[in-house]
Amino acid sequence: MKAFTFKRYGESNVLNPDTLEKPEPKANELLVKIHATSVTAGDWRIRSGKPLPIRFFVGLFKPKNHLLGHEFAGVVEEIGIEVSDFQVGDKVFGSLGMNSGTYAEYVVVDSGMPMAKIPEGLSFEEAAVVPVGFLSAYYFLQKVDLQPGMKVLIHGVSGSVGSAILQLAKVKNAHVVGVCSSKNASWVKKWGADQVICYDREDFTQLTQKFDLIINAVGKTSFREVNHMLAGSGKYLAVDAAMTDYLDLFIQSLSGKNEQIQVGIAEQKREDLVVIQALLKAKKIKPYLDRVYRFEELPAAHAYVEMGKKAGNVGIMVA
Ligand SMILES: NC(=O)c1ccc[n+]([C@@H]2O[C@H](COP(=O)([O-])OP(=O)(O)OC[C@H]3O[C@@H](n4cnc5c(N)ncnc54)[C@H](OP(=O)(O)O)[C@@H]3O)[C@@H](O)[C@H]2O)c1
Repeated sequence: MKAFTFKRYGESNVLNPDTLEKPEPKANELLVKIHATSVTAGDWRIRSGKPLPIRFFVGLFKPKNHLLGHEFAGVVEEIGIEVSDFQVGDKVFGSLGMNSGTYAEYVVVDSGMPMAKIPEGLSFEEAAVVPVGFLSAYYFLQKVDLQPGMKVLIHGVSGSVGSAILQLAKVKNAHVVGVCSSKNASWVKKWGADQVICYDREDFTQLTQKFDLIINAVGKTSFREVNHMLAGSGKYLAVDAAMTDYLDLFIQSLSGKNEQIQVGIAEQKREDLVVIQALLKAKKIKPYLDRVYRFEELPAAHAYVEMGKKAGNVGIMVA
């Protein structure tokens, strides 16, 4: 099968076309023919091997797994004898969680992984960019009791996770203020934000409003920077935490006040993807594609996402 592999860390040109054996599913696995995948922030970080601590998980001097790619959309081609909830021919989308391996024509997926049938009307490219952004957004929002009318500020609202948090917060009828560049402001407004602050025109930390929830969605702010903007019982969620956030979390925990700052790694769960699938079916949320590249253009797609300026998501057509 055709694939893209990387055998050393570096720029996007370390990704090279390759030919691999087509995998075979075990009893509890499915074989999916991939029609589309994506480039996430995690993909380019692992490819570059930076920041260095990431290498403790993915290989100290060179990548342990040569296949990248975390999300997929495609068609079930074979099922193991223990798999009962999917059938050959089902159009599915999902994520490999902490594993990778979707930069290829086929992937075997453990039947317990987050995977669901693609809702009617979604293309493979749209479905492929749903899992990582929406499952991360859903995981972090479950840490707070979001109520209608609550004031939420999302810093980095135009990214994959940010655009998903925005939509899930609007499903709960929260009042959302999004921070992004002026380039992406009109998109963010279209995606449902009540107010947009362009960080290249205005200093969002000077806002006089208080927020019940402030979300650091792309690692460009910190609890220290936004603490004064939180309402009395307001919370700060860091999808990409600053170093000082860990320190402040520790300091707060010493005084038993350890609920205000939330950091962590999102768990991607099958049951959460089912909730996301229902919201997609009901047309309450939508994946937003900035660009779609052909499979042969994967290195160019990585270079684009690495610039950190995309609006929503970047999809890859595989078949
Ligand atoms: N903790 C977890 O489990 C978890 C899960 C998923 C992702 N993550 C991490 O979360 C982060 C976000 O992921 P993502 O996929 O959403 O990233 P992304 O899509 O690559 O985010 C890029 C976005 O950030 C915006 N941006 C860049 N500089 C900014 C600034 N100074 N202020 C505000 N916005 C800025 C860009 O928009 P503009 O051009 O408008 O600035 C762009 O839309 C990544 O670091 C990723 O590794 C963590």
